[in-house]
Formats: sequence, C-alpha cells, structure tokens
Amino acid sequence: MQEKAYSYTTEEVKVTWDQKRCIHAEECVHGLPNVFDPDKKPWIQPENASVEELTNTIKRCPTGALHYEIKNKDEQEEAPDQNVITIEKDGPIYINGEVVIRDMDENIILKDTRVAMCRCGKSKNKPLCDNSHIDADFKADTTYNVERLRTEPVEGKGGELSIKLFDNAPFLVQGNYDLVGEETGTETCSKKMSFCRCGGSQTKPFCDGSHKKIGFVST
Ligand code: SF4
Ligand code: FES
Repeated sequence: MQEKAYSYTTEEVKVTWDQKRCIHAEECVHGLPNVFDPDKKPWIQPENASVEELTNTIKRCPTGALHYEIKNKDEQEEAPDQNVITIEKDGPIYINGEVVIRDMDENIILKDTRVAMCRCGKSKNKPLCDNSHIDADFKADTTYNVERLRTEPVEGKGGELSIKLFDNAPFLVQGNYDLVGEETGTETCSKKMSFCRCGGSQTKPFCDGSHKKIGFVST
C-alpha cells in the first residue's frame, strides 16, 4: 500500500490529503468549493472555511484520502456508532467505521475510519482502490444475497470491524456492520463474511472461490 500525503495548515487545523487514496471527484469539491478547488494552487485552501465546515466535509470523503487534526486539541475523528459497508456500483467497497486491516500474520496494515477497498482486482494500491476499475471497465451491481447474512444472529452494534487480508484471496470481515447496497437495501449483521477482491465472483460482493480459477494475485 502506497502513500503520497500532502498537508495544508492554518493556525487552527491541519488537513492532510493522500493522493494515492483519492479517487472520487465529488464530496469535497461539491461540499466546500472555496476550499477544495482542483483548478487552484494549492488545491486545498483550508483558510477559506471554519473548522466545523472543514471537519464535516472531510468526514464525508469516502476513501480516507482526507483527514484533519485540530491543533492544540486532542480531538480525533470518531468512528460512527455503527460500521457501514457500502457497495459502490461498478466500483469499490466503502467502509466507514472502526476499521482495522490486518495481514495473514495479524500485522496491522491500516487503522482508519474510512477506506475504499478494491473489488475489481486491478488496483495497483491493493487492498485499497485506486480507480483502476474505470480502465478495467469493471461491472458489478449493488445487489447481495441477504439470506446469507441472516444465518447468524446480530450480536450488537459498532466496535472494531476487523478486515483480514488473505493472500491472493478475499478479505474477511468480522464485527458488527450494516451492509448497504442501493439495489438490495441495508442489512444489519454480525456475520463473518469473505468479500471478493478479485473481481471474478458470481456471488458479489461475497467470495465464491473464483479467485483460484482466475489466478488472482493480491500484491
Ligand atoms: S472526497 Fe476524498 S476521494 Fe473524493 S475527491 Fe475529495 S479527497 Fe478525493
Ligand atoms: S476473491 Fe473474488 S471470488 Fe474469492
């Protein structure tokens, strides 16, 4: 996973932007066009908004490319009360919550409140999305089989949402979460599920073992 981070500061706040994680041309630019303007240099000008306006907009960046630190305050962005996994049509899987991504050896790769997980298999910044689904012309709707999630009772709400990366295989989600797909709706569950990240599953967003057949390489 690569990082190319830039920071933009005022007396009150520091905004960081990781170019490698920025894929989505809407939330920030549309939310605060005086601050986030790709035609200006620097493209982020935090002095043009209040701290509250900045933090509210930054929290809507679905990939975690944007973050903030409020100076002289030990205040960090908090995870929402419930973890939310959102299936994006023809694109990544967005996760908003108390996300902890680990490798097969249980090493922590990333802790964050917002991430965009690659599900087309083509990102050069795996496990995160880098917009490669566009060049790959990846097609995937936002439906999912609700019944697969209902085989176990809901255990609670919120808390850590663990994402375990299997080599050349799916990622395993463990914890409490709402799964959101525009076409199917929202299901609250606590079921451990393997999510496809090779792009080949016939039961998306879940894994069906196709990664072996297509020789998916996750590095
Ligand atoms: S909202 Fe985040 S991902 Fe989207 S353009 Fe802004 S910084 Fe990039
Ligand atoms: S990761 Fe795609 S089918 Fe298993």
